[in-house]
Amino acid sequence: MTQGLSIGLDIGGTGIKAGIVNVHTGELVSERVKVATPAGAKPESVVAATQSLLSQLNAPENIPLGIAFPSIVVDVVTLLAANIDQSWIGLNAGQLFSTRLHREVTIINDADAAGVAEVAFGAGKDIPGLIIMTTLGTGIGSALFMDGVLIPNAELGHLTIGRHEAESWASNAVREKKQLSWKRWSRRLQEYFAELEMLFSPSLIIVGGGVSKYAEEFLPRLSLRTPIVAASFRNNAGIVGAARLSSRP
Ligand code: BGC
Repeated sequence: MTQGLSIGLDIGGTGIKAGIVNVHTGELVSERVKVATPAGAKPESVVAATQSLLSQLNAPENIPLGIAFPSIVVDVVTLLAANIDQSWIGLNAGQLFSTRLHREVTIINDADAAGVAEVAFGAGKDIPGLIIMTTLGTGIGSALFMDGVLIPNAELGHLTIGRHEAESWASNAVREKKQLSWKRWSRRLQEYFAELEMLFSPSLIIVGGGVSKYAEEFLPRLSLRTPIVAASFRNNAGIVGAARLSSRP
């Protein structure tokens, strides 16, 4: 029985993760499989890595597949390559994946996918007004929702804060690389989220990415008028949201 099931695949700067998801509940019904993102993240090697994950999942071919991808995605074409190989720019990634994986593929921005999961089932469920989802990982991803409706391809990780591009200064990868303490990193996050708050006056900010499992180390240090919470799905939000979008229940 495969009705109501979809595969979600989340391509990130450091890892590629996949699982089979019940799109009505957001539950992962398989194990989560993962491989490291191939160095340089060129299309050919990323496709090969996704093929190996799909064979590990052993999912029937008739299950829809949703791919969360770290780029602007317009009409299945990837348009930006901040943390991946430049050859993705202008590539028909939807066609590449569907041809090579022998399945129909839905492809969307990774932060948008994570936000879809949170708004459908998690921290953003039934919250009116503007929700900003941010993912703190290799880069900073962002997604905007107005009354539950996605406004796709917001790229708020590339805002300039002071003299810095936000994601090159305040991402989780920067925290790790520079060995910033939670306190020092939180100061950078404070500036970033205060800027988002000033620009958008959201009703809620949701913080995802792998580091969200340590949310209690940094979220309580932030001083904002907007409620800011960790993603309910932690680092699985991209998988769940991509799966959900592929089935359009
Ligand atoms: C990309 C976004 C992506 C984010 C998180 C940024 O560098 O421009 O499209 O959502 O990283 O992966």
